[in-house]
Order: sequence, then structure tokens, then C-alpha cells
Amino acid sequence: MKENAMDNIKISAKNVQVYYADNHAIKDVNVEIEDKTVTAFIGPSGCGKSTFLRCLNRMNDTIDICRVEGDILIEGEDIYDRRVDPVQLRAKVGMVFQKPNPFPKSIYDNVAYGPRIHGLARGKADLDEIVEKSLRSAAIWDEVKDRLDAPGTGLSGGQQQRLCIARAVATAPEVLLMDEPCSALDPIATAQVEELIDELRQNFAVVIVTHSMQQAARVSQKTAFFHLGNLVEYGETNQIFTKPSDPRTESYITGRIG
Ligand SMILES: Nc1ncnc2c1ncn2[C@@H]1O[C@H](COP(=O)(O)OP(=O)(O)OP(=O)(O)O)[C@@H](O)[C@H]1O
Ligand SMILES: [Mg+2]
Repeated sequence: MKENAMDNIKISAKNVQVYYADNHAIKDVNVEIEDKTVTAFIGPSGCGKSTFLRCLNRMNDTIDICRVEGDILIEGEDIYDRRVDPVQLRAKVGMVFQKPNPFPKSIYDNVAYGPRIHGLARGKADLDEIVEKSLRSAAIWDEVKDRLDAPGTGLSGGQQQRLCIARAVATAPEVLLMDEPCSALDPIATAQVEELIDELRQNFAVVIVTHSMQQAARVSQKTAFFHLGNLVEYGETNQIFTKPSDPRTESYITGRIG
């Protein structure tokens, strides 16, 4: 059963501009990102994919020279409203980075960290359950269940990335942002993470930045093509990859630019 697309909008960005000092990095971007959908951001290096992704959980706030204008609403709520606490927001809009970055803590504590600081667990048994559920949903439970006290940094790269995904889902987010989450992974770990992304879509809106056209085609239902700070084209992934409407999109996906 397909929901009406209008009812399914999770994030609505209106006239978004981003500047790094004088560099106008995102130019008047308007986009509506759907819930329970994987949206891929593609485009040549430097076109603004990471910058726009970071607008969605106010990670750009941490960059001094960065200025964001326009409106970004999550279910109608303006995330740049001054009453919004960015730390709370980032629990709701989780992020996974290109390079796996586990905390220098145990596997257990990596996942328990968010639920602890946000007071999501009622006691130890509850926390144990959240940790197990998160590790299971990141498809790494079986590999780590016997060594939850071992340091997260001692895992392989692919395992670390899945641990970071478990950490991001542990705070029960509504949106998961992933910036090139597979670029440091081998093909087997990449396949595991891609499978995982498809499962996460049942519960979250997932936005993934990728340089791999194959990956975008495999995992996403919607694709946004960025070029020089502009959102050139946004639509069904199938359509973007088979019948792009803008010549810049076509040049990029066929390998002529980028
Ligand atoms: N922390 C920063 N400080 C200053 N300028 C930045 C910063 N991050 C990005 N920029 C600038 O913003 C523009 C967009 O960069 P961004 O990193 O968003 O591109 P991208 O599409 O993610 O590229 P890539 O595919 O290489 O990761 C570039 O001109 C870049 O130099
Ligand atoms: Mg980037």
C-alpha cells in the first residue's frame, strides 16, 4: 500500500543557503525528504553534499565560519528555532560518518552512551536490552555478543562502522544521515551495510551520500543530484538513472563530469 507522498514528508527544506565566510556553498535548495525511504545525495566532489547533509542535524553549527539560511522543518518543526537543543536534535537525527569513529570505550559503552546521556533507559536491564537491540539492528550482535567489554576501536573497519550505526540507532532516531558510510569498507562489509540500510528504511528516513552510482541505484528509492551547490534534480532513483531530465545529471551519471 503506497501512502500519499504528501503525508509521508519527513524533512522539508526551503530556500536553504549555506555560506562558509564568502563561499556560497549551498544555493537556494528546496527539497522534501520522505519518511521510510532511502534518499541518496550524489554529485561531484565539492558540490555540497556533506554541507547540505550537515544542515539536517545542525552539525554545521559546530563550524565557526558556516552560516545557514532558510528553513528546515522536520515534521513541521523548524529545527533552527532557538528553542531547539542541537544535542537533542542530533539524538533524533543520527549521523554516521565516512570514517568509522567509535569512542575509545567498550563496545557496550559505545552503544549505551547516547541512551545514558538522554536518559532513555530505566535501569541496567533496560539499557542492556537497548544495547542488544541496537547491535542486532546493525547486524553486528553475533560478532560482538561475547566481547561487549572489549574496546570498540579493536574491531575491524567494517565492524566499527556497524558499531557506529548501532550507536546512532540506539537513541531511537527518526532520521539517519550517512556520509559515504561505505567508502572505507571492503565489498563484503559494504554489502552488509547496504543490506542494513535497506532494513533501517522500515523505521527511519535514511539519507546517504555516496560517490558510487551503483550503490545509489542499489539502496535508494529517491536520488538528489547536486552540482556546484545547486540541487539540480531530485526524483525517483530509477528515473534519475534511466531518464534524467537535466543534461548535467546525465553527464554525471554517465561519467562525463565529476
Ligand atoms: N568546514 C569547512 N570550512 C570551509 N569550507 C568548507 C567546509 N566544508 C566544506 N566547505 C566548502 O563547501 C563546499 C562544499 O563542500 P562539501 O564538503 O559539502 O562537498 P561534498 O559534495 O561533500 O564533496 P566530497 O564529495 O568531496 O565529500 C566546498 O567548496 C568546500 O570547500
Ligand atoms: Mg562530502
